[in-house]
Order: sequence, then C-alpha cells, then structure tokens
Amino acid sequence: MANVAIIGAQWGDEGKGKVVDLFTHEADIIVRFQGGNNAGHTLVVDGKKTVLHLVPSGALHPDKLCIIGNGVVVDPEVLIAEIEALKAQGHLVHSELLRISEQAHVIMPYHKAIDLARERLRGKGKIGTTGRGIGPAYEDKVARVGIRFVDLLEEDTFRDKLRKNIEEKNIYLKAILKEKALHFDKIHDKYVDYRDKLKDYVTNTGLLLDQEMRAGKRVLFEGAQGTLLDVDHGTYPYVTSSSTITGGACSGAGVGPQNIQQVIGISKAYTTRVGSGPFPTELNGPDGETLRREGAEFGATTGRSRRCGWFDAIGVRHAVRMNGMTGIALTKLDVLTGFKKIPICTAYRYDGNLITEFPASSKVMQKADPVYEEMDGWSEPLDNVRNFSDLPKSAQKYVRRIEKIIGTEIILVSVGPGREQTILLKNPFEE
Ligand code: IMP
Repeated sequence: MANVAIIGAQWGDEGKGKVVDLFTHEADIIVRFQGGNNAGHTLVVDGKKTVLHLVPSGALHPDKLCIIGNGVVVDPEVLIAEIEALKAQGHLVHSELLRISEQAHVIMPYHKAIDLARERLRGKGKIGTTGRGIGPAYEDKVARVGIRFVDLLEEDTFRDKLRKNIEEKNIYLKAILKEKALHFDKIHDKYVDYRDKLKDYVTNTGLLLDQEMRAGKRVLFEGAQGTLLDVDHGTYPYVTSSSTITGGACSGAGVGPQNIQQVIGISKAYTTRVGSGPFPTELNGPDGETLRREGAEFGATTGRSRRCGWFDAIGVRHAVRMNGMTGIALTKLDVLTGFKKIPICTAYRYDGNLITEFPASSKVMQKADPVYEEMDGWSEPLDNVRNFSDLPKSAQKYVRRIEKIIGTEIILVSVGPGREQTILLKNPFEE
C-alpha cells in the first residue's frame, strides 16, 4: 500500500484541496510540508465550502492525523483562527489530531511588513506575492535567524531571538523600506499568547511520522502552490520561496524518499496563474474571460482574479519529470464545455526557434509565443458525468491527447467542485 504525494503541476490553484480531500479516506495521516497561509485549499463537502490555508485538507474527515511539517512557515494568528473555526464546525475534536513540527518556522509581524513594503516599492516590477510574509520568513530560515516553534516555547531563547531580529529589521524597515518601526513588547506579548494556545500541538513530527509509518499507517503528503512556482524549478523570480516539488516533501516533512511511492500531479484542463510573471498561453480576450467566469477563477487566499489561458503541456511535462509524477488528476474539465476549438500548447517559439522544454530564462519565458495544436471542443455539460466513457468523444480525445504529450497517465478527471463530481480511473493508494 502506497504513501502518496499530491503536487501542483502548474502555478498553484489546480484543485489540490479537492483531490486531497477525495483521497483522505485512503490515508491515516495528511501532511503539509511547505508554504504557509499563502495557500488556499478549497473544499466543497455536501455543498458547503471550506477554505483551509494551513491545516491539512484532511481536517474535514474524522480521526485523521493532520501534520504541519517542519518545511511549513506558520502564521500563528491564522492557524489559531483556522483551528477555532474547524472546531466550531465539529472538526479537530482532540488536539492530538493536529501536530505542528517543533522545527517549523514562525511568521512574525516584521515578515509581513517587509513583504508588503517591498511589493509596494517594486511598483510595476512586483512579484504579486500574497503579502503574508512567506518570502521574508523563508529568508530568515536560510539566514539562520528564524524563530521556530521550539524557540518560541523557550522563553529566554524567544526573547533573545526576537530582540535581535527586531533591532535588525527595524533598521531595514525604517531606512530602506521607509516603514514604521515595530515594538518588541507588543510583539512579544502577542506571541506568548499564541504560544499558550498552540503549545499542546507542537512536537517532533518527523519522528512521529516515522513511528506511524513503521506501524503501517498510510500517509498523504499535501503539496501547496505548484511546480511552476517552485523556487528552483519554477519561473524564477516569479515564484514562491519554498520547494513545492516532491523532493520538498522529504525535507519539509522529515522523511526519506523511499517513503513516497506514488506522486500525483494536479493540473487544470487549462491554465491559471495569480500574481506576476510569464504565462505564455495567457488569454487576454473574451476566451480568457469565459474561462475566468465559468471556472470561478478568483484566488482562494487573496480574492484576486486569476489570469487564465489554454493548457500548457510544456509546463506540465516539466512538472511530471521534475516530480517523478506517476499520474495526473486533471481538474475542471467541465469548464471547457462550449468552446468550439480547444488549443493545447505543445511548444514555444522564441526568436525563430522552437522550444520544447521549459526554459530557465525569464526573458525567454516572457517573450515565448505558444505553438498550439487544436482539438475539437464539445457542447455538452460534464458536471453529471461519472464514467470516462460517458464523456463526449472529443472530451475523451482531449484528455488522451494531453496524457500522450505530458508522458504520464491521467488517473482522475474532475468535472465539478463536489466530491462526487469525479471520474476515478485509478486509485494511487492501491498501487
Ligand atoms: P508568495 O508565496 O506570497 O511569496 O507569492 C509568490 C508568488 O506565488 C505570487 O505570484 C503568488 O500569487 C503565488 N502564490 C503563492 N501561493 C499561491 C497559491 O497557493 N496559489 C497560487 N499562487 C500562489
């Protein structure tokens, strides 16, 4: 029986929340291993919508152990609000159902202030971050000055680290970013309060995972954002600050690679992106508007409207290779109903040359023109289809063509936000 990682194959927002929720009953433990509350995983259960930013999507199922791994950066205020909201809905009934890594880094007010101020100063050149302090929190982690939960739990360590950080950040905030200084006492007292509320959840989650896996428990690793936002393999510098790929699951959860047997990539049947950065298949005209309207393409975290475009097979094939994806869940196929022709991008053209692999150069990516292969569309609504063979023939052909180009199997097709609006072709946990 496999442990499975679920990873975004595009620029995030692929519908990972729904797929994680679908497979959660197959797993005993659900682990977030990177990112923070820049993520927004939307779950629709019995018509009721829940958006989770930090707590793993398994929280809506009773008795699943949810783990926030060491690779996550945690805004305690957001986490506490999320825990309270889940409890009020009858979830997370015991605190043992949620565990937070003692090594996870804590997002501090100066991280948010720096994130927002930098974006303001960048003006047109902004990254379009979610403004949640994610990048600055990871910077501090790598600069070895970050505050982890284990540090927050030790009053003297916390005071010392916080004092040094505030001294340094205040110089940067005032002199460079032209922002106001932050006050030690206010932040300290607020975080002591957070510590009191969260301390019972904090533990050595890598060790816990190892013990549970040895006892035969099955694990689902829940990725956030997507491969094209990965700090190494995405459209740098228009990326997030974490390792969003399968490799990141090992370091961010504290497990060895042999503990992940199946890697399911999640991709929309078209493409979306929020924030700035290159997007070769972006549609700025009425087709893009139709995708946005029909797909309700507005960010789950910031509410920003998502940029929309045709399926980019170059990007998804790159994600398949980079993650060792053993299958793809193709989401939102229903949104494509009504288009007469549906293009698939199979290459880019840049400076007269045909490019068939995802380029590292930001300049090439910005200027690349998509080369399309056109598929026939269909007019039938798909939201009630439950079997692949009941899909219109041209929808079947579209899915099979994508499968061929990206070089891995499509194991699931999603035709709506509800759990039941799913065509399951293969169960990765049974592999
Ligand atoms: P940050 O992660 O807030 O630093 O933002 C960096 C980039 O990643 C921006 O383009 C964001 O819009 C994008 N981003 C971050 N989290 C998500 C997500 O969960 N879905 C989609 N895009 C995201």
